[in-house]
Amino acid sequence: MARYLVTGGAGFIGSHLVEALLVRGDDVRVVDNLSTGTRANLAAATAAARAAGASGTPSFIGGDLADLAVATAAVADMDYVLHQAAIPSVPRSVADPVSSNRANIDATLNVLVAARDAGVKRLVFAGSSSVYGDNAELPKREDMPARPLSPYALQKLVGEQYLALFTSLYALDTVSTRYFNVFGPRQDPSSPYSGVISLFVRAALDGTAPTIHGDGGQTRDFTYVANTVDGVLRAAVAPGVAGEVINVATNGRVSLNQLWNEVQRLLGTSLTPVYGPPRAGDVRDSQAAIDKASRLLGYQPIVAFDDGLRRTVEWAAGRPLPHV
Ligand code: UD1
Repeated sequence: MARYLVTGGAGFIGSHLVEALLVRGDDVRVVDNLSTGTRANLAAATAAARAAGASGTPSFIGGDLADLAVATAAVADMDYVLHQAAIPSVPRSVADPVSSNRANIDATLNVLVAARDAGVKRLVFAGSSSVYGDNAELPKREDMPARPLSPYALQKLVGEQYLALFTSLYALDTVSTRYFNVFGPRQDPSSPYSGVISLFVRAALDGTAPTIHGDGGQTRDFTYVANTVDGVLRAAVAPGVAGEVINVATNGRVSLNQLWNEVQRLLGTSLTPVYGPPRAGDVRDSQAAIDKASRLLGYQPIVAFDDGLRRTVEWAAGRPLPHV
């Protein structure tokens, strides 16, 4: 049994990590400022772990990691740190780069300093596919040059580089996992900055037309959250990966038009989307090479896109769907 700190553990991805750790029987502490995360996510994660036979409960520290004292208290006595806390939105970073920078860079530096001083075994960072930017080559490999197109992408790149620096400068064991458009239950559709799958599913359930920014031909490697969780938990303990950057995704590619058609098929709706101008800072195509994750982590996707989408729609609808 190991002690894990999940920063941002009340958020969408963080709460799924908490759930998986509880199921395994690990000790879990969460630190979260509840800016986008919720107590309800943590309660749902704990309940799901209980239903799977777990008995533990995560401990909770409410606070902002941009405050070094909060980071120090959170990291104390931990074996592993899974740093998920962030303001995870490209358009929000374009609209408000300062608050985004504080959450994504200042807080990350504090967590790194605290982890170094506490002597943790490893820190795993939630990186982002956005760092690849408009590099036209697909699939995106970790050795391609980064071309950030938004403050968010730049901040995530700086986070990765800070990790690598802490590994070389202070011998802190770190790994960056680059996420690709993660989706699943507990992703919150209530903000215009929410992930597109949560927004499309909400629109279909409400019977309203979604907005598609651009022609809908842009593609993403939409990754069901169970895959991300598996990759991160492997990255926390895999040998010989200190200082590495590793894509965690599916190597698939789905366009927004295909996505909307699939959501409509699952829910039996027939709504015409509203097409608007492309979004500033948007990337056209995104698809991950996952050879490095396979080689270093023994990672392979465990839930395919179609299956993950069905589970997500069933969660949002609150009912099982007929197989059509
Ligand atoms: C980006 C990152 C992703 C990161 C995420 C954090 C890339 C390739 N991916 O996701 O790794 O985790 O930020 O939030 O940079 N869209 C619509 N209508 C909507 C909402 C979105 O058409 O109502 C479009 C967007 O313009 C975009 C696509 O859907 O083309 C996906 O958008 P979103 O879900 O916000 O994620 P990314 O910005 O791709």
